[in-house]
Amino acid sequence: DHVFPQYTRADVKQHASLADRVWVTYAGEVFDITEFVELHPGGNRILLAAGGALEPFWALYGVHKSEHVFEILQEYKVGEL
Ligand code: HEM
Repeated sequence: DHVFPQYTRADVKQHASLADRVWVTYAGEVFDITEFVELHPGGNRILLAAGGALEPFWALYGVHKSEHVFEILQEYKVGEL
């Protein structure tokens, strides 16, 4: 089984742009979604969450509450908080 590295919220915050790579957190997990940004059906607003938590945004955009979206997210996992 793959053991993921542990990161802090401060680490995640350092990755808040395409140049620095785009990391986000969700439910205690860390994702590098840089390669997904241009594939996002909701466009560039995905960058609003860059360097921080997805929860407040996904609370507003309920379209993400689906198995399909969680499967996509898991592909980009790089660590845990
Ligand atoms: C739509 C994934 C972050 C806003 C979608 C859809 C997917 C997706 C798969 C299409 C859902 C469907 O139609 O069944 C993701 C992933 C994210 C992310 C994997 C993070 C890694 C965000 C953020 C925002 C956002 C942070 C807003 C700040 C939207 C909106 C749509 C959408 C508005 C609807 C687009 C439309 O149908 O016109 N997202 N999303 N997403 N997303 Fe995201």
